[in-house]
Amino acid sequence: MSSVTTKKSDLASLMWTEKYRPQKLEDVVGQKDIIKGISNLIKGRDLPHMLFSGPAGVGKTTAALCIVKELFGTSWRDNVLQLNASDERGIKMVREKVKEFTRWGSPTGEQETKELFKIIILDEADEMTSEAQTALRRMMEDGARTTRFIIICNYLSQIIEPIQSRCVVFRFTRLPKEVVLEHMEEIAKKEGVKYDEKALAHIYDATGGDMRHSINIMQAAAGMGAINSANVTSAIGLSGRSKVGEVVKLALAGKFNEARAKLLELTQVYGMSEGDFMKYASQEAYEMKLENPGQFAEIMAEYDYRLASGAHPEIQMAALLAQLGKLGGSSSSGKKD
Ligand SMILES: Nc1ncnc2c1ncn2[C@@H]1O[C@H](COP(=O)(O)OP(=O)(O)OP(=O)(O)O)[C@@H](O)[C@H]1O
Ligand SMILES: [Mg+2]
Repeated sequence: MSSVTTKKSDLASLMWTEKYRPQKLEDVVGQKDIIKGISNLIKGRDLPHMLFSGPAGVGKTTAALCIVKELFGTSWRDNVLQLNASDERGIKMVREKVKEFTRWGSPTGEQETKELFKIIILDEADEMTSEAQTALRRMMEDGARTTRFIIICNYLSQIIEPIQSRCVVFRFTRLPKEVVLEHMEEIAKKEGVKYDEKALAHIYDATGGDMRHSINIMQAAAGMGAINSANVTSAIGLSGRSKVGEVVKLALAGKFNEARAKLLELTQVYGMSEGDFMKYASQEAYEMKLENPGQFAEIMAEYDYRLASGAHPEIQMAALLAQLGKLGGSSSSGKKD
């Protein structure tokens, strides 16, 4: 039923981070002790719940996916539920999915594993309120016969104690320089792109052990011809920045879909934070000499506030673009794309 062919969007398959995402635990670079610990755990019959914490782009989600691929082989998709706590806010959604999942009963498929459970990967769990986490804790107990959780977060301190104590905790750390440099070189060689070591070191210094961000900058520089210092410098700063103005223009012109796609590229490929986007967008708009700068500023302030108060960034940014579309006037409103 399921096969190994991955159905990725065009953007995802073009992205080196996806192309070179490790498929086996042993291919996850750095994090040696953690990988050894996990490998030993999944060899045992009685798989515990696991909790992965640590900074962005160091292999947490990747390791979780490797685990389920190793446990279930090609039929992993039939036995795994991948949820993002911040995408589907509200415990109701999570609970329904967990219930439904638990009802499915024992794993199916051709896996050689003897285990009788399915796995729920719950990413960004630290985005959940503590009430939601309390409910989650109950679900972990209710589903104990059939379900194992791999809970992933950036900040362990944001996870309630009763959940922590029900899991084997693995603390992922920023990746050391040698490890990231070596991995980047390997990718550059496979891609047949020219690179120099100083430029790679520069990337590391700018990203500080975040492999996703490092690879994305590398790819952006390679897109300019080679991974050299000049291209890396502009990939880090300018190339992303110059696109901010384009997003603002598209949004003001009512081209919502185009604006949103460009914005996603900025946040995902260039690793630009929503906060930085807001800052640059305000500067760009100032230079554009808008007809109604006051209204523009009000909209930006409103969304800046929403982001700061913890509203879901992707949703808020989409709403912001829609608002700017209204502000842009009736000249080219509506769905142009
Ligand atoms: N330890 C690693 N070894 C090899 N590649 C890695 C490693 N960590 C990250 N990467 C690369 O970065 C990409 C993103 O990694 P991953 O999704 O595992 O990050 P994460 O730790 O879950 O981060 P976040 O907290 O942002 O979700 C991977 O697809 C892979 O290309
Ligand atoms: Mg992740």
